[in-house]
Amino acid sequence: MNAQELTDLKQAALAEAAAATDAAALEAVRIKYLGRNGRVPEIMDNLRNIPAADRRDVGRLANELKNELQNLVNARKQELQQSAGSTGPAAFDYTLPGRWRGLGSRHPVTQVIERTIGIFRSMGFTVADGPDIETEYHNFDALNTPADHPSRDTQDTFYLKTGQLLRTQTSPVQIRVMEKQKPPVRIIAPGRCYRRDTTDATHSANFHQIEGLYVDRHVSMAELKGDLTHFARQLMGPGVNIRFRPHFFPFTEPSVEYDFSCHVCGGKGCRVCKFSGWIEISGAGMVNPKVFDIVGYDPEEFTGYAFGMGVERIAMILYGIPDIRMLYENDVRFLEQF
Ligand code: DAH
Repeated sequence: MNAQELTDLKQAALAEAAAATDAAALEAVRIKYLGRNGRVPEIMDNLRNIPAADRRDVGRLANELKNELQNLVNARKQELQQSAGSTGPAAFDYTLPGRWRGLGSRHPVTQVIERTIGIFRSMGFTVADGPDIETEYHNFDALNTPADHPSRDTQDTFYLKTGQLLRTQTSPVQIRVMEKQKPPVRIIAPGRCYRRDTTDATHSANFHQIEGLYVDRHVSMAELKGDLTHFARQLMGPGVNIRFRPHFFPFTEPSVEYDFSCHVCGGKGCRVCKFSGWIEISGAGMVNPKVFDIVGYDPEEFTGYAFGMGVERIAMILYGIPDIRMLYENDVRFLEQF
């Protein structure tokens, strides 16, 4: 080791210490040069093998290297600590209270949809989907709705400039499924619907329905009633019954409206059921053979039942929500209760 080599070594050591960006890298540089088995002690140990003429110079340079490097390491250490201190652990105040991040919860409408899907899945149904922007054909014509039916009126339906419309019901999903699939069919279809309703405590221009459709050989109205009863009891409680009232829908024949017995009073009559003992849910019926003709199913061979229900309505009954608008205001104090 001669004087020139030592000068080079010093420069390399100082450059490495200056380039260290964290405490661990800096410590590694220190150990490499100044540690017990580092370069500087090694040079010191070897001094006696160096020719006497060079020995003094080399010894002096090695000492310089040692002192300068040690100073630089100390200075860098402080610098690194200070810059880490502004963001790192040194600035952490353990006595500060933690930051509360509120737990989210699922929207009641989502909860009703998910529970309904779960119940019908367990009965062998799968979930189907259709577009919010529908053709008049799927929303009305294919569902055997006459051209002069009041629901087609522009007062009730949002029509788009393209001639399409925002679906007023999830029933068009029935048509889309049957167009694509041969029987047997067993689907439920949850989704958004739109009507030109003026908003009040029980109406909203944008709401949700869940559609059901079961087509096979020998499907009967008794099955419709049995399956809806099973669903009602799973959703509302084991004591709940259902009843059918005659009604009319163009796409079912015969058609019914169905009610659940009041889950609050058990049918005796209370405020929730307006003292009738029953809560109106929605419509259902046996698929009209004309609909089967339209989608190309043989009405002599197949029968089916269909039903629809309003999700908001069920959520309001289930959770005792008095006004449909509360479901859309997104007030977290309201939503976090469910
Ligand atoms: N789509 C109907 C409505 O919005 C509800 C309905 C009635 C659906 C009878 C059905 C059904 O599938 O069979 O009022």
